[in-house]
Amino acid sequence: VGELSAEDVKKREDAKSLDPYSSDPERHPVLHAKCKKPFNAEPPREILADSYITPRVLFFKRNHLPVPQVDPASYRLNVEGLPGGALSLSLEDLKTRFPKHTITATLQCAGNRRSDMSKIKQVNGLNWGISAIGNAKWSGVRLRDVLLAAGFGPEVAKWAHHVHFEGLDKDVTGTAYGTSIPINKAISEEGDVLLAYEMNGEDIPSDHGFPVRVVVPGVVGARSVKWLGRIVISTEESSSHWQQHDYKGFSPGTDWKTVDPKSAPAIQELPVQSAITVPADGAVIDRSDETLTVKGYAWSGGGREVVRVDVSLDGGKTWQVAQLRSGDEGQPAEPSPPPGRAWAWKLWELTAPLPPEAEELEIICKAVDNSYNVQPDTVLPIWNLRGLLNNAWHRVKVKVTED
Ligand code: MTE
Repeated sequence: VGELSAEDVKKREDAKSLDPYSSDPERHPVLHAKCKKPFNAEPPREILADSYITPRVLFFKRNHLPVPQVDPASYRLNVEGLPGGALSLSLEDLKTRFPKHTITATLQCAGNRRSDMSKIKQVNGLNWGISAIGNAKWSGVRLRDVLLAAGFGPEVAKWAHHVHFEGLDKDVTGTAYGTSIPINKAISEEGDVLLAYEMNGEDIPSDHGFPVRVVVPGVVGARSVKWLGRIVISTEESSSHWQQHDYKGFSPGTDWKTVDPKSAPAIQELPVQSAITVPADGAVIDRSDETLTVKGYAWSGGGREVVRVDVSLDGGKTWQVAQLRSGDEGQPAEPSPPPGRAWAWKLWELTAPLPPEAEELEIICKAVDNSYNVQPDTVLPIWNLRGLLNNAWHRVKVKVTED
């Protein structure tokens, strides 16, 4: 190993200072990175459902831009667009002036399971597997409480339709990440939208939005803005790229020549979803095991509760009902959520006899939520050019060998 010349050291330092990602945090080596700059990664599928609450280091990370360094002492959250003028809150204000609430909520990226969509036909986006989803305990203050303190009332309710969120992460032109949600979700007591400053009982890690992020439960992850700097009450949706051009769903027949982003609404609540975390596609099962255990997760958007997960070991010919749980094995389960406020995923498991003589099994899972929404059986009819919203039945093939 040679020593770097003074000139090379300087070149390296210059390159570092020019690299907007040089102060990004350290990440757990087990994560599968889909892109390093900006950093996007998911945990290995086989460990995703090991814990009901996803550990912070393993929670998927979805960054569009460099992670901003925010000094908690000088941090300000500005609330704008209300008649009383702007309200500027410090982290201390948030922690001391408003009651603290905790919710357990699953966040899922709209691109979760995109890799299965790209097998049908090429799509544009990060090649997510099934782990761009995680479940955490989020604590902070209710957005509703902050909006009321900032002057939201019956007069404002007459014209206000949307709440914009702007992050402190910016692109090279100085444009910040931003999105919006409908006012009803933001102001309703049952909406449970949080301005969270804790994740799993500790400060939010910098990758997940330190010191404050929005958590919009039941809604696509894109609206849960991290490093929250600004909230604006408005008559209109956010004009940001991520609200107007990205995170929208299109017909399988729409291509890049014909796509008109204005023709589709922004994705908010997500459809019912489930996936198999164990066994992995291509796994080899020993016939002498006699039984097979299949595990996974299931979740639905809009606070709809998953009420059943069906599993097939023979490509969909016959089905068995999996056991659902809302907690870790051997631990007390979380209390049942009030109707319409099921924000957290359920983990599920099925142990069944191995079908005799089969050399290959096609294992499938599908979930049902309490509105009896079901998942589509294949990807083809929901394919779209951005590879979003893949909630087709999840299928894995395993081989059974005689040992
Ligand atoms: N907020 C900001 N400020 N910048 C971002 O890039 N990504 C969004 C959302 N909030 C993003 C953001 C997207 S697309 C998702 S899916 C979630 O954050 C991911 O949250 P996580 O990284 O904590 O898992």
